[in-house]
This record gives sequence, C-alpha cells and structure tokens, in this order.
Amino acid sequence: MSGSGTNLQALLDACADPAYGARVVAVGADRDGIEGLARAERAGIPTFVARVSDHSSRGYWDRALADKVAAFEPDLVVLAGFMKLVGEKFLDRFGGMTVNTHPALSPSFPGMHGPADALAYGVKVTGATLFVVDAGVDTGAIVAQTVVPVEDDDTVESLHERIKVAERAMLVESVGRMAREGFTVEGRRVRLGG
Ligand code: GRF
Repeated sequence: MSGSGTNLQALLDACADPAYGARVVAVGADRDGIEGLARAERAGIPTFVARVSDHSSRGYWDRALADKVAAFEPDLVVLAGFMKLVGEKFLDRFGGMTVNTHPALSPSFPGMHGPADALAYGVKVTGATLFVVDAGVDTGAIVAQTVVPVEDDDTVESLHERIKVAERAMLVESVGRMAREGFTVEGRRVRLGG
C-alpha cells in the first residue's frame, strides 16, 4: 500500500480471527513514513519498502519489488491502496494471484480519480471493484463489486469515504473467500470456490 492503510487495517483485524482462514505475512510500501506501515508494525507484521527513486529504471524497481514480495512466499498479493502500477516483471511472477481494489465500478472511471470522476459525471451510484491485476489500469478480471449511492450534497471526500467503508467490507469478504475456498480465473470470469 501507499497511504493511510485502512484497507490493510480491515484485513489485519479480520485475520486476528483464526476462522478467517488467512494471515498477512508481510506488508510492503513504495514510500516511507505512512500510516499503513505503522499499522503493520503495531500488528507485528514484517514490513518492507521499495522506492522507485532507489532504482535506475522503473523496470529495476519492478523486479526489486517482486523480489521483496517473493521472499515472503505469499499465496495471494493484495494491492490495498497501492498507488503505483506494477509492471511486466512483477506480473511474470505474481500475475493471476494479485488483486487490487479500485474505488469505482469498473469498467467506469479507471485511474487515480475514480470518486472525483464519478461525481463529475453525475452518476447516481458508484462503488468499488476488486479485480485480478493485469497490465492495464484497473482493467483486470473482476472478483467482486460493491455499490454505493451518490448523494446530492456529496463532495469528492464524502463520496470517497462512503466508498471506502463498502470497499473494506468487500475486500475482507472476498479475500477470506479466496483464501478459504480458492479461486479460478477463466478469461475474464473469476470464480470463487473450487
Ligand atoms: C482506496 O479507496 C483505494 O481503492 C484507493 O485509495 C484508497 C486507499 O485507502 N486506491 P487506504 O490507504 O486503504 O486507507
């Protein structure tokens, strides 16, 4: 992740119950000094940082990030508010087992400004999408979506906060099911369960 880490916190809280069926083996970030890293440290989870600026190219950063993730041998990689696009090297290793959450209903409003773009368009409902990461921007096969109403007096901030409440619930529910029941990706169709 790259920021406040409320999605991470929701996963950490869920993982505190052994019945949830998953645990967080490590938390990585692309920058220092963020609340998300502090949340992981408070939970006693190993952390690592991979900064683009420490590498001579985006490709070297991408490989270094993949190496750091690989060291923890995860079964699933969750991008939870990670504000960088992973590249080819990362996807070579973790494609098909990396999910990301986007604060809009894909395929509408991809990119960095999902809540603002939804508000500007004037849609009456928006939401959040969990998807299997591919090489595009928020284009991967959809695991789950959750719908949130847009209120007449919403600001970008109030709308994003409402989306984040639903987004966290969706993430916890879906990651738990993926861990307990497994999942398959057939083309653009993601099926939870065996
Ligand atoms: C989430 O809405 C995520 O989808 C978006 O940024 C937000 C991150 O929130 N890309 P947090 O860091 O988990 O609190």
